[in-house]
Amino acid sequence: MEKMIGVIFGVTSPHIVQFAAAPTDKMMNVWRGQFVMLYDPIQKDKRYLGRVLKLERRNLLMDETMASQLLNLLRDPDLALEDIGFRRDIVGEVLIGEVEIMGVRKNGIIEHPKYPFAPGTRIYKADVDFLREQLKPSEESISIGTLRDETDVQAYLDYQELVSKHFSVLAMTGGGKSYTVGVIIESLAKDTKLPIVIFDPHSEYSSLLRAKNDNGKVVSQKVKIFTTKNSSSEKINERFKDRFGVNRAATDIYIQLADLESYQITHLLKILYDLSDPQRRVLEAVWEEVREERKRSGYLTIEDIKEIIDREGAGVAKEIAVRMLKTKLELLYKSVLFFKKDVSQPEIEIADLVKINRISVVDLAGLSLPHQQALIAVLSSQILEKRMEGGLPPAFLVFEEAHRFVPIGSIATASKPTILKIAQEGRKFLIGMALVSQRPSALDDDALSQCNTQIILRLTNPVDQSYVRKVSEWVTSEDLEEVRALPPGEAYIFGPSVRVSLPVKIRERWTEHGGMTPKIKEELEKF
Ligand SMILES: Nc1ncnc2c1ncn2[C@@H]1O[C@H](COP(=O)(O)OP(=O)(O)OP(=O)(O)O)[C@@H](O)[C@H]1O
Ligand SMILES: [Mg+2]
Repeated sequence: MEKMIGVIFGVTSPHIVQFAAAPTDKMMNVWRGQFVMLYDPIQKDKRYLGRVLKLERRNLLMDETMASQLLNLLRDPDLALEDIGFRRDIVGEVLIGEVEIMGVRKNGIIEHPKYPFAPGTRIYKADVDFLREQLKPSEESISIGTLRDETDVQAYLDYQELVSKHFSVLAMTGGGKSYTVGVIIESLAKDTKLPIVIFDPHSEYSSLLRAKNDNGKVVSQKVKIFTTKNSSSEKINERFKDRFGVNRAATDIYIQLADLESYQITHLLKILYDLSDPQRRVLEAVWEEVREERKRSGYLTIEDIKEIIDREGAGVAKEIAVRMLKTKLELLYKSVLFFKKDVSQPEIEIADLVKINRISVVDLAGLSLPHQQALIAVLSSQILEKRMEGGLPPAFLVFEEAHRFVPIGSIATASKPTILKIAQEGRKFLIGMALVSQRPSALDDDALSQCNTQIILRLTNPVDQSYVRKVSEWVTSEDLEEVRALPPGEAYIFGPSVRVSLPVKIRERWTEHGGMTPKIKEELEKF
């Protein structure tokens, strides 16, 4: 039996209608974001899916004068309005809602109504069967939970769209971003053999190793942890063992200084030690040769690099500039722990990082931000390059704390040009990415707007909200009001990975979630 929730009134269109309902107890089962059904104005057996965008309640009798007069009477907490003869059902109280018509899916094609709906048309609650049929997943879909309002209906994401057209996960801090990314990674890993690479600044994703159920076991078998040797690595390994009872068995990453591309080394030196114009000119003049020589001879020590600078850089600027540049490069070489300094240190193989049926967690914890940016820059640009050459399978990259790696504005960041390139060109080569951030307004707008699917959890900051609205073609201002108040574990999903904007209850993790806020009381006990 179809459950009627309201009747259309006023000026209507084929896309948006207003409806009214009487707010008796029975009619209060209407809420914002709810899915509804309406029959076509002409073809009586055709139903469309709609979504309640707005909901308001109005009672003309209860104006400010009436309310102020009631003030004294209602001080008695046991007195109900009905006791003094105020009956909502006969005093003209109405619930007014607005519905967006999403169309109907017939044989894979979305059909929209051609004519405006007639005032007086009934609006029904969408029943479970209709919702299932309308939200039926494509073959390339993963489930990540259920509909928020209909927990019998699974919520699917089309991963072809999700990965090829990129996505973002945005929420205030503690909003559940990493948890949700974990859920998506698990589902992708269970249903596909897609290589996944996670750049993990807070050492949160190693816990994918720790399964909580059988699905989790399938996921955890695919996980490989990569770290860089630094002053905190031992501690991180120990803490992980204590918390999850498994050994991370992490592989150390080494790359060569000469692996950095010209813009990467320039940005990095500029941030860390500043570069004068003459030093930059020398660097630009010699660096291609350094890269060529690295390709020819395999391994370049800092002495080899200095020799090339002496040879190729003389004459580009004064001798002092050349000398200063060499000193800065040497400082950099010595301070960056993941630069290979000895032939015995094995260089990371990109084909080992991006591998069928593998989830690679690149743990960046313990590194300074410029060093993290440099490592992300080198690894992700090599991934894109090798994929373009056809030497790698498609892959999916996760950038946590994305605002640090593709910041808005002109801040020189070694990683920004690469991530922008992936945002713009990754699609053609099936290198997908997820940008995860609690500060969307600090993220580069080009990069964010290339993320076609947006997964938004609780987001309260008005600056972030209006920025998201500006860069996303899918998010409406009503939706933003909704995301302001989302409880943990609930998300709104917009964009081509979902058939309609979906309020979703994210399922529980199959592996452990690594992120946690330390409890102040427990921490104090340790001292
Ligand atoms: N779907 C969910 N089900 C159950 N618990 C959840 C869910 N989503 C998040 N949580 C809980 O909420 C807390 C915060 O989640 P999470 O670490 O994902 O936040 P975050 O947005 O990544 O935060 P940060 O900005 O600090 O990185 C975690 O303790 C997690 O257990
Ligand atoms: Mg997080």
